Amino acid sequence: MIKSQHVNLQVSFAIETNWETFNILERQLLLKAKKAVQTAYAPYSKFKVGAAVLLDNNEIITGSNQENATYPNGLCAERVALFNASANYPENSIEAIALTIDFVGKNLDQPVFPCGGCRQSILEYEERWSKNIKIYVIGPNEEVVIIDTVKDILPLAFSSDYLK
Ligand code: THU
Repeated sequence: MIKSQHVNLQVSFAIETNWETFNILERQLLLKAKKAVQTAYAPYSKFKVGAAVLLDNNEIITGSNQENATYPNGLCAERVALFNASANYPENSIEAIALTIDFVGKNLDQPVFPCGGCRQSILEYEERWSKNIKIYVIGPNEEVVIIDTVKDILPLAFSSDYLK
């Protein structure tokens, strides 16, 4: 008889506080994500998010959250950036994504990680290009959480393999 089991899954990431350890492209990516926050259209939640995607040709594509009076019609910053990149550069794979929020006036003392839907979207592009996408999440004190692959923060992900 199979005994009942308890399974414990882990998430995994690193935290870097010294931006000098990042190369120029990484720094550009981080800065563009911060700047993209200013383009957020978030009149309903007042929660502004910016994202920047690095392509394999070193282009950086940005996005920000875009809301709508019919709330579910809005889209997260990460997906705006990812879909923008994929639609305009369909031949280029995605190397990395950076994101941050506007912490001003927010009582948040930790980085805000991508939502579940955005994690699934990042996974889609990892699977499309058979390549991990590095995720950089900038926190309230400029600390950067580095995640090597979205699989490290998305246990039990739904894989496109299931549909084959
Ligand atoms: N939002 C993002 O842009 N990214 C996330 O990962 C989580 C949430 C946006 C969606 C909405 O416009 C606002 O933040 C509040 O949920």
